[in-house]
Amino acid sequence: MKLVETVTGLHNALDACGQGKKVGLVPTMGALHAGHASLVRRCVADNDVTVVSVFVNPTQFNDKNDLKNYPRTLDADCKLLEEVGADIVFAPSVEEIYPQADTRIFDFAPLDTVMEGVHRPGHFNGVAQVVSRLFDIVKPDRAYFGEKDFQQLAIIRRLVSDYGYHIEIVPCPIVREADGLAMSSRNTLLTAEGRQHAPAIHRIMQDSVAFASAHTVDETRRFVEDGLAADGYLRAEYYEIVDGRTLQPIADWQETDYAVGCVAVFCGDIRLIDNIKYKG
Ligand code: PAJ
Repeated sequence: MKLVETVTGLHNALDACGQGKKVGLVPTMGALHAGHASLVRRCVADNDVTVVSVFVNPTQFNDKNDLKNYPRTLDADCKLLEEVGADIVFAPSVEEIYPQADTRIFDFAPLDTVMEGVHRPGHFNGVAQVVSRLFDIVKPDRAYFGEKDFQQLAIIRRLVSDYGYHIEIVPCPIVREADGLAMSSRNTLLTAEGRQHAPAIHRIMQDSVAFASAHTVDETRRFVEDGLAADGYLRAEYYEIVDGRTLQPIADWQETDYAVGCVAVFCGDIRLIDNIKYKG
């Protein structure tokens, strides 16, 4: 495995792999866990060359403190990536990714005007900036994204179709802790008390899937909202049941064959997101 920090270094490392190889890219912000590892394993299985980028992208953080506190663990990340068989780790500086300030404005309406798009203004614009930069630099055949960030995945698909990238986007299932908590780099920032309450998020959403079979969309949404409120520690920012393709809230189960519930919850000061499929 090769660790490179510059675009030139990355291109040299790719050239050294030889011509005509299928290249897979796994974009990450580091602080890697088993969720990331599952994407990398899938990428290694599907491609000749696996590139993993580790870059905490400042343009997607709408909260300066969140950016400052984001965990950075490059040595441990490289160890994990070596174990799962990555070929190239691309860990560039901010200057390397953005030699000039990136002023591009993306419009993915209506995908980016709901949920995270409302509560984290500018977030998806920053994600699109960095992911398009990575696509342009690495030129992968395939790129791997987790369903944990459900709205992000929809937006990346849209980026690929709007801008004509010849890249296959491979969605990967959510990896959870044994108690159901979706793995996240931010979980390491939870207090002991927060860590105890956090699994309730998935538990309540899972219970709501059984509840949904005999109740309306509205009742099901309230079931989750009330369940989260009853925990006493968790503070839901939103819970939406949406069409999995358009991301627009649905009013009736019959409206779509693909219904997904998406949540953002403050667990103490740490904001966590998760989602669950009702239909499809
Ligand atoms: P990051 O949060 O590091 O996540 C990198 C990738 O890992 C994303 O595609 C995310 O959905 C996936 N992932 C994270 N936790 C997961 C889990 N528990 N199960 C399955 N997949 C999981 O998402 C980002 O970074 C950034 O926005 C990025 C796309 C790298 C752009 O900066």
